[in-house]
Amino acid sequence: MIDTRRPEEAIEQLRREIEHHNHLYYVEAKPEISDYDFDRLLEKLVALERQHPELVTSDSPSQRVGGTITKEFPSVRHREPMLSLANTYSLEEVEDFYNRVRKLLLLEGVSDQEIVGELKFDGVAVSLLYRDGLLHQGATRGDGVQGDDITVNLRTIPTIPLRLDSFFARELQGSAREIEVRGEVFMRKEDFERLNDGRPDEDRFANPRNATAGSLKLQDSAEVARRRMYFVAYYMKGLEDESTAHFRRLELLDKLGFFTGRHYRLYSELQGVIDFIEEWAEKRWKLPYETDGVVLKLNDVRQWGKLGATAKSPRWAIAYKYPAQQAKTVLHDVVFQVGRLGTITPVAELEPVRLAGSTVSRSTLHNFDEIERLGVMLHDRVIIEKSGEVIPKVVRILPDERPSDAVPIVPPMRCPSCGTTLVRPENEVSYYCPNDQGCPAQIKGRVLHFASRNAMDIQTLGDALVEQLVAKGLIRDPGDLYFLQEPQLEKLDRMGAKSAQNVLRALEKSREKSYEQLLFALGIRHVGRATARELSQAYQSVDALRKASEEHLATVPDIGPVVARSIIDYFSKPSWPDFLEKLRSAGLPLCASESKEQINRNFEGLSVLFTGALDRYDRQKASELVLERGGRVVGSVSKKTGIVVAGHDAGSKLDKALKLGVRIISEGEFEAML
Ligand code: IVH
Repeated sequence: MIDTRRPEEAIEQLRREIEHHNHLYYVEAKPEISDYDFDRLLEKLVALERQHPELVTSDSPSQRVGGTITKEFPSVRHREPMLSLANTYSLEEVEDFYNRVRKLLLLEGVSDQEIVGELKFDGVAVSLLYRDGLLHQGATRGDGVQGDDITVNLRTIPTIPLRLDSFFARELQGSAREIEVRGEVFMRKEDFERLNDGRPDEDRFANPRNATAGSLKLQDSAEVARRRMYFVAYYMKGLEDESTAHFRRLELLDKLGFFTGRHYRLYSELQGVIDFIEEWAEKRWKLPYETDGVVLKLNDVRQWGKLGATAKSPRWAIAYKYPAQQAKTVLHDVVFQVGRLGTITPVAELEPVRLAGSTVSRSTLHNFDEIERLGVMLHDRVIIEKSGEVIPKVVRILPDERPSDAVPIVPPMRCPSCGTTLVRPENEVSYYCPNDQGCPAQIKGRVLHFASRNAMDIQTLGDALVEQLVAKGLIRDPGDLYFLQEPQLEKLDRMGAKSAQNVLRALEKSREKSYEQLLFALGIRHVGRATARELSQAYQSVDALRKASEEHLATVPDIGPVVARSIIDYFSKPSWPDFLEKLRSAGLPLCASESKEQINRNFEGLSVLFTGALDRYDRQKASELVLERGGRVVGSVSKKTGIVVAGHDAGSKLDKALKLGVRIISEGEFEAML
């Protein structure tokens, strides 16, 4: 059938259809079409928009797939500070809160007091700004006054409406040009587990909140989109004739298409509030996401301002946190895991027990100091606890219930993987296997780290495959991966011609990764992603880096003596030249590419004002850096000033900039922009 509609109409209809199904899926959890059909609609839209690029708008669902790369997120000031909440673990304090608020209200001549009970979502607070119904800006809390502008990443979250049209069309026409919605970005337990699966130990996120915080700061918004995060709204401000009841605002947020969870309730008595807390103590484990408590808020928004706030939190709300969940179980055995750096970690094997919604059978004991501190022996009855974290920990033993067959836990003499005698360096809490070249567990750990997502991202290289490659002696270090032949791979368990080809293709592709990623992939002790980035900027090649002296290394930002020492140790290993040769012949990125050495244009068109003293640059140098990057340096502040860089003891210019709402950044942020 020929579509006779104008492209504008066809596009608009598709957009509405997609957002409608999006809402049904994520907010209502009642999808009406299959994922496949949904993807087809989106593909259709993308194709149409490609034909008519002039019709692409920022609120099109096609913009949710991401694809922008952001090097640094600019900082933005919040309209009003983003406060936190006072926490309590006791019902008595909830009662105190209730009575305190009642007294304050009575002073105002108000006698009825309604409280809204909400769930406390365990995620990352963000603020969204809508202008004329369109998502304009989204920022993290930061220090409460200033946060990071992460709009590109927030746009990918399906439960963040890009447009509030129904509301602007029908509900409150023309009443407010700008509204602010605050809430929490979180990850569902299921999505969190999927994300963590297959990540090497050192890259695993401890809990969904950490995973969310990390994901929101990713530079690649397409990757953010893949992480499937949610936004829950719990606060709205900015409507001229909006309701003065918080409960009504939450309902309005629902109508606008936001996800609120819809578990909020209104109470006019303390007992109701207590019942709400008790009701959710157990019910929360059945939710697909983590909640660590409930939040209680005074319903009458007009009283909020009167009650005011302390330095950190408002007086009209309080968070009640559930105590950590504990369970009693038996410690059957302790096994010793060998990490990629040779560290031995004792892991408790427990009698499986239900705890906070899942079955727990293992838990880390960290190191031998911890075992001593706990005084734990094999077969002891122990208490394990889960408090927000996904991985439970042993918190104490029950000495009175110690069985007669209890046995002390002795540190192993030899490495469980290779049998080498272990060492415990002075002043360290852990034992190490010194056989870094021959220990299969260490080799496997290093290869998995090398292949991990933030390193060379070789996704087909899973745990089982690496295990076999090491056991069969096919690889001794990550460099050997690039010399594997198809027939060798094909013969391995659970591999075939097809899988073998996939592995080789993924290895081939990893050659395109950046020098910075390679530096991280090397797995130098204490060199995480951020340090790898600093190093890649300070030293333009691996050769330059390995020749750097300890003193010179220590001049790189964020690199202290410990990290500098660890880098020197890494490159002085006898096996290093051989490994380097393999990386070189494999054609891996051993130096920064040409384009990277060129100066960026990060200050293009911006006027920059310096005020106060900088630690690391004199004015002349700082100005040159801005000029080289396309910016201008000005001497006085006006509304048109792009950025004010504030150093120590900045005075009147800073005040003026604050008044005019000019963007103000610190020396560190300036450096990041460079
Ligand atoms: S209201 C001014 N409501 O918990 C008060 N916060 O521990 C603004 N949170 O900072 C916050 N669920 O990041 C509010 N239903 C809820 C919440 C909630 C989670 C977070 C939020 C807050 C922190 C306090």
